[in-house]
Amino acid sequence: MPNAYISGTGFYVPPKVVTNDLLAKEYGIDTTNEWIVQRTGIEERRFAEEGVGTSDLAVPAAKQAIERAGIDARDLDMIVFATLSPDHAFPGSGVYLQRKLGLCDGDSPKFVPALDVRNQCSGFLYSLTVASSMVQAGTAKHVLVVGAETHSAALDLSARGRTVASLFGDGAGACVVSATDEDRGIRGTYLGADGRGADVLAQRVWDIKKRPFIQLDEAGVGHVPASDLWAQMDGKQVFRNAVERMIGVLMQACADQGLTRDDIDLFFFHQANLRINQYIAQQIGIGEEKLVSNIQRYGNTTAATIPILLAEAEQSGRLKRGMKVAMVAFGSGFTWGAAIVDW
Ligand SMILES: CC(C)(COP(=O)(O)OP(=O)(O)OC[C@H]1O[C@@H](n2cnc3c(N)ncnc32)[C@H](O)[C@@H]1OP(=O)(O)O)[C@@H](O)C(=O)NCCC(=O)NCCS
Repeated sequence: MPNAYISGTGFYVPPKVVTNDLLAKEYGIDTTNEWIVQRTGIEERRFAEEGVGTSDLAVPAAKQAIERAGIDARDLDMIVFATLSPDHAFPGSGVYLQRKLGLCDGDSPKFVPALDVRNQCSGFLYSLTVASSMVQAGTAKHVLVVGAETHSAALDLSARGRTVASLFGDGAGACVVSATDEDRGIRGTYLGADGRGADVLAQRVWDIKKRPFIQLDEAGVGHVPASDLWAQMDGKQVFRNAVERMIGVLMQACADQGLTRDDIDLFFFHQANLRINQYIAQQIGIGEEKLVSNIQRYGNTTAATIPILLAEAEQSGRLKRGMKVAMVAFGSGFTWGAAIVDW
């Protein structure tokens, strides 16, 4: 059975920087830089321009990961695309990315399978699990895994929406998971979910039980109540569950791999709130120097946070071949996951 390793990483964030001050001044959100920094650690985030879709953000991230893996897009055997903000209700963003990478063009198109994963902030680790399983089973040699989000289109950028709107930003991260005979790679992934938390952080937009599922007025125009259009969150419940589940799944991963926290060189935690991550690190005795963070610059980019972190850490030289790394995520659902990787 081959090992599955991350052969290349890439990321892309849109150029528009939105500082906390700009959120207040330009968008009229009733907030302050001090409030957001103190509660979350976030200083700024990126917003995509109108007209840019989630699969568009994914293209440069994917191309960078493919190039750094030393392969051609046509060497890919599969695409796994994690997002909670897909371009459309259907089809998934994976097929748009496939087309935009040119895989459907020319005399020998590569009609590789494209799978969308809808697991919010845990989406990347769920996708990594699918990719590594396909590679280890011998079904695929190279799988492109992407996490990308365009949150700015669905944030209630008003005084009413300040709790959620302050947290999220746009971006894309990607990696290529490849087969190798070397003794390295993804040693284990650990996933969980607790549907009792399904309504604690949710964006419903429509209710499929209704006929039609979005109410139309006489002119045939759909109407969605603001409470359904924007994500609703009980932040305190999310915070409590995130701490408990992230610690739990990290302990499970370490125990299964026969590791202590000291054996791990770098921790890549999902970037939802710097305070959550610092609290976890303090609770289980991880030095802050082992915690990789970029939430200060990008906010919470949901499925994109961990692959962006990996790509930045690799490109800056902080993440090096031979290191043992742990990734941990928690998100809406509730869903969570961890991965232990020998880089
Ligand atoms: C969102 C979060 C920072 C809010 O912090 P909190 O201490 O729970 O704050 P609350 O929601 O109780 O709100 C406290 C007050 O701050 C206000 N507030 C909320 N957002 C604000 C903002 N951006 N600026 C200023 N004030 C704000 C609230 O309106 C409330 O005011 P009130 O007391 O007058 O009603 C925190 O709950 C959190 O980070 N939770 C986890 C969220 C998360 O990780 N989500 C993604 C999961 S993947």
